[in-house]
Amino acid sequence: MKVCLVTGGMGFIGSNFIRYLFESNLDFKVINVDKLTYAGNPENLKDIEEKHPNQYKFYKMDICDFKAVDEIILKNDVDYIINFAAESHVDRSIINPSLFCDTNISGTISLLNSAKKNNIKKYLQISTDEVYGSLNFNDAPFTENHQLAPNSPYSASKASADLLVRAYYKSFNLPVNITRCSNNYGPYQFPEKLIPLMINNSLNNKSLPVYGKGINVRDWLHVKDHCKAILKVLKEGRIGEIYNIGGDSEIANIELVEKILKILDKPQSLIKFVKDRPGHDLRYAMNHNKITKELHWKPDVDFEKGLKMTVDWYISNRIWLENIITKEYLKFYEKQYKNR
Ligand code: NAD
Ligand code: TYD
Repeated sequence: MKVCLVTGGMGFIGSNFIRYLFESNLDFKVINVDKLTYAGNPENLKDIEEKHPNQYKFYKMDICDFKAVDEIILKNDVDYIINFAAESHVDRSIINPSLFCDTNISGTISLLNSAKKNNIKKYLQISTDEVYGSLNFNDAPFTENHQLAPNSPYSASKASADLLVRAYYKSFNLPVNITRCSNNYGPYQFPEKLIPLMINNSLNNKSLPVYGKGINVRDWLHVKDHCKAILKVLKEGRIGEIYNIGGDSEIANIELVEKILKILDKPQSLIKFVKDRPGHDLRYAMNHNKITKELHWKPDVDFEKGLKMTVDWYISNRIWLENIITKEYLKFYEKQYKNR
């Protein structure tokens, strides 16, 4: 049985990935290390914890704490590390860049040091298309060879981490992969990111803050498709390689918000154009030919269907949604939007 250490496993993608591992009936033991920030929610995996007590273990821990993490890795004889743990929201990175450097850069180096010390079989870094910067409307999608040109403190911290991962491969022969994905959507996403925020506000008849003119384009990847790609890279990815993962679903923010309102049968008048995000990247788009050719992965979830399924999930899980929106978060949200 292989032992897989997942960091940030109580967050959106990490919890979906752990769920996907168990659904796939693989011979894995999963160690989940998560600091439980505002974005980490133990409810996301409560059923997994109950169903698989011998195959799943959770530790509340900061990945920056090398000693603690290293002890867990040694004690559990870990084979693979998949690093999802991160501060992940661009708007928060503009408010507090240092926090992003702590977790996303220092946290990564702490994990790399332990991976190196314990002869880990593979270290997989979950990165983002945002490290490539921004495209114009007519530009070709990003390939893995595109220059790194991050524009936000978030993307700069993720690009820094990617470079450290590369350096540990080159300098110490640490077996690594880096995956760079586009914007994920699906169940269990904290409602500060575009899709769940707009669903939640619509459900509560609150205004939908669209930054600038809403012309910015994102490529949307269903989280299940992302999880499938991650497992493929873990099992079959060539050591030292970077793989782009995209959803083939580019859409302007305003069109996306209009679709959500239509699904929910809410009035378009809920849309409120607000002050733009500083340094707002215009467009992301991914060329995923490499993973498609080498590992035979492609996105399967049709965006229209995936969006409808996601809206339905949030409607069916309103208690999950209400519990995650704490008074503290609401205060933070209201303050942020008062300034826009
Ligand atoms: P998320 O914010 O939902 O979850 C992050 C998790 O990391 C939370 O559970 C949090 O408690 C945990 N965490 C934060 N700091 C930690 C620390 N110091 N030590 C241990 N745990 C810590 O994020 P997500 O959307 O699930 O993203 C997961 C990864 O995927 C991140 O690395 C992110 O950069 C990357 N990514 C996300 C997207 C997306 O669309 N969500 C797109 C591209 C890349
Ligand atoms: P977000 O979900 O924060 O992801 P990212 O910035 O990492 O792509 O935002 C997605 C897009 O939606 C981005 O162009 C910013 C925009 N946006 C809004 O217009 N309003 C909002 O309230 C939020 C959170 C995002």
